[in-house]
Amino acid sequence: MTNTYHISRRKFLVLSAVSGLSLWGCKTLGLDKNSRASNVIHSQPLPIPKLLTGKEINGQRVYDLTMQQGSMVFVPGKKTMTWGYNGNILGPTMLMNKGDDVVINVTNKLGEPTTTHWHGLHLPAVMDGGPHQRIENGDTWQARFTIMNEAATFWYHPHLMGKTAEHVYHGLAGLFIVKDPQSKLALPDQYGIDDIPLIIQDKIFNADGSINYPGTRMGVKGDHFLVNGAITPIFNAPAQFVRFRILNGSNARIYNFGFSDNREFYQIGTDGGLLEKPVPLTRLILSTGERAEILVDFKGQENSHVRLVSYSKELGKINSMFTRDALDKTTIDILTINVNSSTSNPIIALPGTLATINRLNESQAVKTRSFRLNMFLASFLINGKKMDMDRIDQTINLNDIEIWKIKNNSSMAHPFHVHDIQFLILTRNGSLPPENERGWKDVVLVKQNETVRFIAHFGEFADPDTPYMFHCHILEHEDAGMMGQFVVV
Ligand code: C2O
Ligand code: CU
Ligand code: CU
Repeated sequence: MTNTYHISRRKFLVLSAVSGLSLWGCKTLGLDKNSRASNVIHSQPLPIPKLLTGKEINGQRVYDLTMQQGSMVFVPGKKTMTWGYNGNILGPTMLMNKGDDVVINVTNKLGEPTTTHWHGLHLPAVMDGGPHQRIENGDTWQARFTIMNEAATFWYHPHLMGKTAEHVYHGLAGLFIVKDPQSKLALPDQYGIDDIPLIIQDKIFNADGSINYPGTRMGVKGDHFLVNGAITPIFNAPAQFVRFRILNGSNARIYNFGFSDNREFYQIGTDGGLLEKPVPLTRLILSTGERAEILVDFKGQENSHVRLVSYSKELGKINSMFTRDALDKTTIDILTINVNSSTSNPIIALPGTLATINRLNESQAVKTRSFRLNMFLASFLINGKKMDMDRIDQTINLNDIEIWKIKNNSSMAHPFHVHDIQFLILTRNGSLPPENERGWKDVVLVKQNETVRFIAHFGEFADPDTPYMFHCHILEHEDAGMMGQFVVV
C-alpha cells in the first residue's frame, strides 16, 4: 500500500515538474491511443472574442458575418484546420440593445452549405436560421429582425439538417449579448475586463493537429477543454466582482461547474434573462446549449489563484452508463483564474433584486402538449418520430399560452430546446425547479425518468409556411432525428 502510494505520488511530482517547466506541454494520461494528440498547447491567456457592434445605417444596426475556413495551432508545430465566423475559430460577440432593428448579413465561404441560427431569440420563423434557411456556398443570407428579448446572453451556430454537430465542432459558434438600455442595475459590464464570456467546448485532436470528429451517435465528447477557442487557458481577473457569461457550447457533454476551492458564487441570469435575485451556489449544472450568468467575488484576493472546474463525477446518474466517459468520472479543469489588482471603479455590492419576471399562470394556458423523448435501437425520437423536414408536428395558435410536458423515457438525459420562445419551468417531476432555474429558459435538461413541465407564450410571429424547431441539444441526437417542427398560425 505505502509503496504504491509512494510511486504514484512521485509520478505526480514528476508530471507537475514537467508541465511546470513549459507552458506548452501537457501529457494527458490514459486516454490517448492511436493517433490522438497527447501534447497540446494550453495555459495561454484566455482569448476574448471581439465585440461586433454593427454599423448604424438608416436607423438599423447592420452586422456582417462570414463563415470561413481558418487554422489554429493546438498541437505544437502542427496546423489545425478550423472554421470560424470572421476569423479562425468561433465568432465575434454581437452586441445589441433591446429594441434595436438589426440586419445581419451572413456569407458562406466554407465550400459547402450550412445555416446560421440565432439561438434563443424571439423572431419570425423565416429569420430563425434553422434547417430551412440554407445558405449555399458563396451566398449571403440576410436576416432582419427587432430585438425583443430581455437583456441576456444568446448564441449563434449552424443548424443544417444532419450536419449541425460537425459544423459546430469545427468551430462555428458565437455569442450575442443583448443589453437593456433602460436597466439601471449596477452589474459588471466592462466586456473583457469584469464581464467575461466563456464559451466552453470539448474536442479531440489527432497527433497531426487535425480535429478528430468521431461522430458517435450517442454524443461526441472530447478530451481537451476549450474556453473561447483555447485549451484550458488562464484568465487574469480583477480583484472585484466579475460576471461570467457561460455558454456550454459543447456537442454533448454536461458540466457541473464549481471552483477548485468550493467557493460560493451567484447565478444572476438564465438562458433568456436575469433572475429575480442572485442565487448563491457552489455547483452549476449546465447542459449543452444552456447559458448562465454568474458573479464571482474576487475582492481582496490579489495574487491568489483558483480554477473553474467541472465536478463531473458528482453528476452520477445524470450521465448514463452508456454515455459516461472516463472524464465524466473525474473533476475536469476548465479555466485557471489569477487574481490581479482591481479596476478603478469596481462593482462592490451584489444587487438585492435583479428583474421582475412576469410569470405566466398555469390557468392562462389553453393547451398542454406532451412530448416523449425516446431512444429505440439506434434511433433518437420525439413522440416516436424521427425528424422530417416535410412534416409539421405541432400547430400552435398565435398568442396562445401553452404548457409543454416533456417526458424522458430513455436511458440518458436530454437537453430539450425550443426555438422562437423563452419558457418558464413549472415543475420537475411535480416539484418546483431549483431557484436558479426560475428564470427565462430556452433549454432544459430532462433527466432519465423525469417529466418537466414548462409554460410559454407564442406571441407576435405567425407563419403557416415556415416552421420553428424543437429538439434535443445534444447535437448528434438532433442530427440523428431527435427534433420536430412547429408552426405558429
Ligand atoms: Cu441551439 Cu435549434 O438550436
Ligand atoms: Cu435554437
Ligand atoms: Cu438527446
